[in-house]
Amino acid sequence: MEVIRNRKVLQDFIERQKEMGKRIGFAPTMGALHKGHLSLYEEAKKENDLVISSIFVNPTQFNNPEDLEKYPRDINRDILILENSGLVDAVYIPEIADIYPEKAESKHYDFDGLENEMEGKSRPGHFDGVGTVVEELFRQVQPDSAYFGEKDFQQLAIIKKMVEKTHLPVKITGVPIYRAENGLALSSRNQRLHEDRKEASKIIYETLNKVNDWFRTVTIAEIKERVTDIFDNQQGMHLEYFLIADENTLKETDFFYKDRSFRAFIVVVVDGVRLIDNMHLD
Ligand code: PAJ
Repeated sequence: MEVIRNRKVLQDFIERQKEMGKRIGFAPTMGALHKGHLSLYEEAKKENDLVISSIFVNPTQFNNPEDLEKYPRDINRDILILENSGLVDAVYIPEIADIYPEKAESKHYDFDGLENEMEGKSRPGHFDGVGTVVEELFRQVQPDSAYFGEKDFQQLAIIKKMVEKTHLPVKITGVPIYRAENGLALSSRNQRLHEDRKEASKIIYETLNKVNDWFRTVTIAEIKERVTDIFDNQQGMHLEYFLIADENTLKETDFFYKDRSFRAFIVVVVDGVRLIDNMHLD
């Protein structure tokens, strides 16, 4: 596996691959890699000649400096995980100046309102930061396809919108949420939870499954009440939001419509760690 640590080396590498006509699959990350990330490379490997990953903790997408500072970083461990996976041909680990030559600042995007829902409300400026870094990475890596987890469903929708608006020739693929055996969605942030809290947090997935059972037989108001009750009874857990939204517009819905698809979205803070999850409702 090639470990590429600056933009110039990446440029030469990509040029060579393009000359050989290689089809490039790309999955960007912020490191602290786990099996959820590996599931993206697995998907990428099926559909491309070459799989590239990137590791870059992007400062402009953190609206909270403490969250940025606390973000887990262990680049040597990450490189080892990638190497041992046998799934990745090259990893790009840029310096900040490779991405932001002047100042670490976001561009401002219009994502047709997607940015104003859910995480956009809780984390102002977050999606401008994500759009900025992913657009820049796409310009440098020039992938044919790029892979994003449904774990961050709103981010996936925003990237699709960014590609549509910038006309970058990249196909975006969503990859299903990879879960621990108890159902907890894998996340780099889970490292900050004690084992017993991880076990208790399986209630998030259990709740989403219950919501899916209740869906279309119980009113949304009633579902929301039941979810609130579940978390009121959980010590050390705070339900930041739960809602059901149209899968395409991401707008919250109060009613079900027959011919539209819906998804439940939830954020729970467990011992100060913000856990995010979602589930398609059928
Ligand atoms: P990060 O949180 O490292 O996630 C990188 C990719 O892995 C994202 O597409 C995310 O949705 C996916 N992912 C994380 N956990 C997953 C899981 N349990 N199952 C499936 N996919 C999972 O998301 C980011 O980094 C950043 O915002 C980034 C896109 C790299 C831009 O900085």
